Amino acid sequence: MVNLNLALVILFQFASAYAQTLSVSVPLLAPSGATTLSPTLFSLSIEQDTWTDWAGTDAPNAFLVNVLDNLKQRTGEPPWFRIGADSEDRTNFNADVQFSQTVSSTPSVATPYPEAGAVVVGNGFYQIAEHLPAGTRVVWGVNLRSKNTTAAVLEAQSINKAFSSPVMQAAGVTLEFIEVGNEPDDYGDDVGYNTTTWTVEKYVAQWTEFAANVSLTGAVKPGLGPKFFGPSFAGVSHAADSFSALGIFTSGILETPPGSLLTTFSQHHYQCGAGEILVDIVQKDLIRGNLTELLPDIAVVHSHGLDYVLGETNSCFGHGAVNTSNVGGIAIWTLDYLLFAAQVGVSRAFFHQGVGYKYNAIQPVTLTRSTIDGSPLSAPLPPHVQPAYYAALVAAEAIGASGASTSVELDIADDEVSGYAFYEQGALKRAVLISHKMFFAGGAVPRGVKRIALDFIGGQAPKGNINLKKLFIPSADATTGLLWGGQSFDGPDGKPSGTIVLQESSVDAVDLSDTEILLLLF
Ligand SMILES: *[C@@H]1O[C@H](CO)[C@@H](O)[C@H](O)[C@H]1NC(C)=O
Ligand SMILES: *[C@@H]1O[C@H](CO)[C@@H](O)[C@H](O)[C@H]1NC(C)=O
Ligand SMILES: *[C@@H]1O[C@H](CO)[C@@H](O)[C@H](O)[C@H]1NC(C)=O
Ligand SMILES: *[C@@H]1O[C@H](CO)[C@@H](O)[C@H](O)[C@H]1NC(C)=O
Ligand SMILES: *[C@@H]1O[C@H](CO)[C@@H](O)[C@H](O)[C@H]1NC(C)=O
Repeated sequence: MVNLNLALVILFQFASAYAQTLSVSVPLLAPSGATTLSPTLFSLSIEQDTWTDWAGTDAPNAFLVNVLDNLKQRTGEPPWFRIGADSEDRTNFNADVQFSQTVSSTPSVATPYPEAGAVVVGNGFYQIAEHLPAGTRVVWGVNLRSKNTTAAVLEAQSINKAFSSPVMQAAGVTLEFIEVGNEPDDYGDDVGYNTTTWTVEKYVAQWTEFAANVSLTGAVKPGLGPKFFGPSFAGVSHAADSFSALGIFTSGILETPPGSLLTTFSQHHYQCGAGEILVDIVQKDLIRGNLTELLPDIAVVHSHGLDYVLGETNSCFGHGAVNTSNVGGIAIWTLDYLLFAAQVGVSRAFFHQGVGYKYNAIQPVTLTRSTIDGSPLSAPLPPHVQPAYYAALVAAEAIGASGASTSVELDIADDEVSGYAFYEQGALKRAVLISHKMFFAGGAVPRGVKRIALDFIGGQAPKGNINLKKLFIPSADATTGLLWGGQSFDGPDGKPSGTIVLQESSVDAVDLSDTEILLLLF
């Protein structure tokens, strides 16, 4: 936990008259069925064509290490890294390459930072994972789509070599999983695939063949050691004959020797569709609709004893949407989506990142063209965090460092407010309140405030005042200037600046402004 004692400033919220008070019941003891939260519920997925930018080749990327360390200080563990994605299926291996060579694609207004057309990696590519903070766990993808078992095997051998090396072990970075193939339900109509005739049975047969070869390298193994993670489908489907959880189980994936090492089911999920804007994606009921849609698959996966994760997720598919994924309001979506995902049984959500993507939480290197339209920037833009990063900070503090905190969603009868309670050893410790009402700068509508009356149930209610930590978002359309408990993380070193500011509020009534998040500390 960060040291809150240093330079603590307490502000007092003065009560004023409010038209409406929203009453919210807060259980003092964790209800049965409260979800246990991983400290790394918020994790990262990296498009691997730019992996060397993230990690740094000759030396660690100091900015990245700092922004990961901010999260590690709060949860005791840095976010997991899943490295691979689309470009994993366009990667080959050549031991003569030091780190990686890419065939670049042409930027456009719609896609200012396109993915590489092809990637060739060497041993150094995997070895630089040693630059990640101690305690980082890694999921790495190998190529399935190219139908080249030699490529997959050489990649897995190199991954195994890197993670078995004394330097990696000294760095405390461990391989947890290998993913064989990315979004195989979307393999399309080339490399001998045919969308019309490609089925889940064919996929399971091909995966099993490749995974058997990969397991021969020793990169995954029974007992202690890394396992398989997949199938990483792009689409959500529930039928036994479709690319779904039921589909792969019905096709017998778990009965094969490599399938017995498949212990985590990974689903990809992006919320917003084409043409949607911020005010759509942040709606409380749509976030719930998007995640409860996964419930049948989560139940099937859990019934087979596998873990269920969102192996690749974010706001809008295709690197994010302008004025949606890159603005302050997305912090509201990110936090509510993340915490609600845990409520439906998602154990970890890997937020997808590239270099220059609109939806990044972290821009790991200096950018020279606009992430919005690809135009040249008048001055290079140093590494920086984006609004989604602030949601990760809030989640980290809400979840805490115990590794055993539990959470329930608060039942709030207001479609613009959501909330969650957090428990340690069954006792209420923290709560989060989230305003889904978007306040835009320069608009005619003033920023509203809702007064929330906390109705504690199941024991002796806290009395007097409590401390609040606020995520201040200048406006839903602001791209910078967010403050978490008074601190900015916008600086080019990724470290917090400013003093931590807590606010004091009466325990009976808490004021939540539009487009704001409050962390209540009990
Ligand atoms: C994959 O496994 C098969 C069956 O064991 C073997 O014949 C083949 O040589 C392997 N391929 C590679 C590239 O290791
Ligand atoms: C498969 O990958 C290997 C290893 O890089 C390469 O030598 C070979 O040319 C590839 N095969 C095809 C058909 O691309
Ligand atoms: C895919 O298979 C269907 C049915 O066999 C066939 O009509 C179609 O031409 C094939 N598409 C391609 C791109 O080969
Ligand atoms: C998911 O959210 C989007 C808005 O971002 C909405 O258009 C879509 O209908 C939602 N899907 C479900 C299944 O609720
Ligand atoms: C994004 O917002 C800015 C500022 O409000 C506006 O000028 C621009 O046209 C918007 N772009 C898109 C693609 O909506």
